[in-house]
Amino acid sequence: MSSYIIEGGKKLEGEVTVSGSKNASLPIIAATILNPGITRLYNIPNIHDTQITLEILKYLGCKIKKINGKIEIDSKNITKKEIPEHLMSQMRSTVILAGAIIGRFKEAKFSYPGGCDIGARPIDLHLAAFKKLGINIIEDAGYIICKADEIKGENINLDFPSVGATENIILASIFAEGVTQITNAAMEPEIVDLAKCLNKMGAKIEGAGTNIIKITGVKKLKDISYKVMEDRIEAGTLLCAGAITGGNICINYSTPEHITPILNKLEEAGCKININTGKVYMQAPKKLKAVDIKTMPYPGFPTDMQSIFASILTTAKGTSVIIENIFENRYRYVSELKKMGAKITTEGKTAIIKGVRKLSGTKVKSTDLRGGASMVLVGLIAKGTTTVTNIEHILRGYEGLEKKLKKLGAQIYIDED
Ligand code: EPZ
Repeated sequence: MSSYIIEGGKKLEGEVTVSGSKNASLPIIAATILNPGITRLYNIPNIHDTQITLEILKYLGCKIKKINGKIEIDSKNITKKEIPEHLMSQMRSTVILAGAIIGRFKEAKFSYPGGCDIGARPIDLHLAAFKKLGINIIEDAGYIICKADEIKGENINLDFPSVGATENIILASIFAEGVTQITNAAMEPEIVDLAKCLNKMGAKIEGAGTNIIKITGVKKLKDISYKVMEDRIEAGTLLCAGAITGGNICINYSTPEHITPILNKLEEAGCKININTGKVYMQAPKKLKAVDIKTMPYPGFPTDMQSIFASILTTAKGTSVIIENIFENRYRYVSELKKMGAKITTEGKTAIIKGVRKLSGTKVKSTDLRGGASMVLVGLIAKGTTTVTNIEHILRGYEGLEKKLKKLGAQIYIDED
């Protein structure tokens, strides 16, 4: 297992570029299954999750070419409609591949996705929606077998605006007979990016980004090239890295409207934010002020930023209250931050953070992707050396995080053991 070794105490300064979005890339890579041709994608981050997803496409029969920054996916000769357990279990979002396979072949076989370390992450909303679309579902020996004679457009109301379920319904209904309407759809920017890519391929999706999305079935899709949006959670993470160190940084990022709640909270904590075309500047105060956070579906404060924002509040002036409304087990990182001297208590959905004057570097274990990132950020200011182990969790979702932080002046390197 590799580790990050971080020497605390460096103020971050300078400019860094945000990579392509993990959470837009995964459904867009899945969408290439729907086109029995060649799709060229740009700005896909080279991280574990995209590598695994491309591995699965190769297993299904796709031909993948990576030519400097471009990924060419030839989905003409897909022969398999089953995702094997050893690939399914490697990450949670493999379930959206099922929607794409069903969308094209009207059948798919897959196992339950890896329940992540942040909650049970059931897929009941996905399966209920598939049933409404006329897909028969049999569960047998841990596998889910889906089959449909015809996929018929339907009105589907989601009990919760699930991002994955919204994406899966879109992918499964692209070629459906008639119109599918999703009400209480997730409104995340990654869904807008998926719809933009699919519409460029010839799909007919209206309303992405609102809570009502309409998909009119089409006959086929065509070969296109598409550049994936930038990663709003990485943008937020880099800004928080600057903020926790009292730094002064600029991120090359062209969709600040996607991170309004994060920018608002950084300003509430005392940071000065300036937005220019394609750039976001952030000047942090010597000491941040405590702020309260409530995670909500988009456009509310993103749950993926909860642990990262908590990390910068560990040394803020005052007491902060966080309420995690999306996942039921997203405070596992707290016990690791407490080893560094953070004063955090959690009770159910709520975390109370009392700002402390200083934190001490020690050995901490990354619990999950965003929890691990919060430990890196605290390591940037902790006294002495912080070792963050199990960074495979972090490498899943951040492309070259240590290179980006080093570029901003952090003392951090990877220890491969
Ligand atoms: C996506 O996960 C993201 N992952 C998550 O990012 C993100 O935290 C989440 O959306 C919320 O924004 C990807 O896009 C790959 P959900 P997803 O379905 O689709 C419950 C990261 O760190 N639910 O919106 O799995 C679920 O348990 C990751 O980059 C059901 O109950 O999230 C959760 O409590 C973490 N039944 C809530 O809904 C279902 O069938 C939100 O889940 C589906 C979901």
